[in-house]
Amino acid sequence: MLRRDVIAAIAATAAMTDAVPTAAQAPAPQSPTPQSPTGVPRKAVLTYPNKTMSAKDAVALVTGSNRGVGLGFVKVLLARGAKRVYATARNPEHFAELAALDPGRVVPLELDVTNDAHRRAAAEAATDLTWLINNAAYPGGRNTEERRILSATNLDDLKRSMDTNCWAPAELARLFAPIILKNGGGVIANILTAGAWYCLPEYSGYSISKAAEMMATQGLRAELDREPILVASVFTGDVDTRATPVGHTGNFTPEQHAEEVLDAVARGESDIYAAGSYGMRARIDEDPAAFHRRVIDRFHDRPLVIKNHI
Ligand SMILES: NC(=O)c1ccc[n+]([C@@H]2O[C@H](COP(=O)([O-])OP(=O)(O)OC[C@H]3O[C@@H](n4cnc5c(N)ncnc54)[C@H](OP(=O)(O)O)[C@@H]3O)[C@@H](O)[C@H]2O)c1
Repeated sequence: MLRRDVIAAIAATAAMTDAVPTAAQAPAPQSPTPQSPTGVPRKAVLTYPNKTMSAKDAVALVTGSNRGVGLGFVKVLLARGAKRVYATARNPEHFAELAALDPGRVVPLELDVTNDAHRRAAAEAATDLTWLINNAAYPGGRNTEERRILSATNLDDLKRSMDTNCWAPAELARLFAPIILKNGGGVIANILTAGAWYCLPEYSGYSISKAAEMMATQGLRAELDREPILVASVFTGDVDTRATPVGHTGNFTPEQHAEEVLDAVARGESDIYAAGSYGMRARIDEDPAAFHRRVIDRFHDRPLVIKNHI
């Protein structure tokens, strides 16, 4: 028998493609291991036994930390004994709330990740940094037609996704990698998505930018392979935040997601499947053509409805 939480995680990721598996279609049962918190069997991931990084005493910067997945990281980093957390947000109205989490260890910083002056100011402030968590992301604008290639009036919305989700994390890595090295090494974690593995058509600009960020993360990892920085691609699945489509509630809390990611970083894993995304990966690998057919059919027959919160 599959565990109930395994079925829930698979069903949740499947809901985005209209491909809920029956128990008979679901992956074979397997005892949960530290590498498979949802119980889905995992292939080996690229692991660095020499880069197992503990959050204890880390000095971390989290982008987009005022809500959702980013706020989950701040809370779990603090709970695991981080020395300092630069909790960044583009809107200073969140600073008091963030600082109140732990006034002695939380340092709020203004950081719109697309703003070069903000990025440079953050690098000048956080000279003791050891962990960079590139979490902030732009899912695309309110008008879903502007998120796509042909229906958009121009490609501005898609380019904004690229600027926020791919180039901004790369610019931050360029600024902070030398600082992290100077401080003895640490972590650069880019929060990607299962939607980097295929194009979710209601989020075309987002998928395109996350796929590009996935490649950028691999390039960064190769460049830092011989240095004491773990470069992690985090394939996030299904977290309950404002970013999920209407009618879809994520099956994992931001804190559960952060716990999974920090556990994987502590094992030195550089490809991290979190919040049920491994179920999605397994289903794509099982039959890629059928998977893509389901995504396309779902887009035409029952398009996802985007929350009006951007
Ligand atoms: N939720 C999921 O199921 C899921 C699945 C896959 C991947 N992810 C990934 O998880 C990460 C966080 O997503 P979420 O679900 O927590 O979404 P969310 O609740 O919408 O939060 C997005 C965060 O990014 C910030 N942000 C957007 N543009 C920014 C900019 N230019 N500069 C600085 N901050 C900016 C937002 O700030 P404001 O509050 O100012 O708008 C907000 O803090 C993203 O990388 C996303 O791709 C989430």
